Amino acid sequence: MVKLYERLLEDPTKEERDAIVHMREIAGWGADQVDEWCEEIRQKKKLFWFFYEDEERTKLVGVNALITSSYFFEGVQVSNPDESKVYVAHTFIYPEFSGRGYGHLICKFCVDYAFDVLGSSIVTMFTHVQNEPSLRIFRKLGFEEKQRLKVDWEPHEGVDNWIYEAVYMEKSRQ
Ligand SMILES: CC(C)(COP(=O)(O)OP(=O)(O)OC[C@H]1O[C@@H](n2cnc3c(N)ncnc32)[C@H](O)[C@@H]1OP(=O)(O)O)[C@@H](O)C(=O)NCCC(=O)NCCS
Repeated sequence: MVKLYERLLEDPTKEERDAIVHMREIAGWGADQVDEWCEEIRQKKKLFWFFYEDEERTKLVGVNALITSSYFFEGVQVSNPDESKVYVAHTFIYPEFSGRGYGHLICKFCVDYAFDVLGSSIVTMFTHVQNEPSLRIFRKLGFEEKQRLKVDWEPHEGVDNWIYEAVYMEKSRQ
């Protein structure tokens, strides 16, 4: 049985901010918005960001976040400011910890937080059509595929032109 300690970021320190930049660089995702996100985390309204540490609480195993503002991903409204619909984003497990069930654990934590703590009615997510671990996790958590669409992102800091097919999934409160 895997176990992690979760921590909700409230006032990101420089180390925590740098950890987010670091994980995004490893994932091949842009890091140019990290300072903006840290500000949103401090406002506690738009973005709930979780760090997950190992049992000894010495290593950061992964992160993820819930976006609760009015957020659109490729034209699809994936979250509402009243938190009725929230979006699971930025899910990342450090490669040295992958394949041990931690991804499933942190996604479950985030989804439970949305339904049980925020009182949301719908939780949403997007992933790459070829991201098998991510698809398996969210299907197992009861998410249903709603839409597939082609994403064609402009190149941004650290990331070359990015074109891929994305899967949009939702889970409604039981
Ligand atoms: C996606 C990610 C969070 C998964 O984390 P993880 O800890 O490795 O996942 P888990 O160990 O919980 O495994 C989840 C499922 O994927 C399967 N899986 C794991 N690695 C796999 C691989 N390389 N290929 C296919 N399936 C794989 C597991 O068997 C498990 O399925 P099961 O429950 O049916 O057995 C992690 O790989 C990651 O951070 N990737 C980079 C960032 C990313 O893609 N984030 C998701 C964006 S939506």
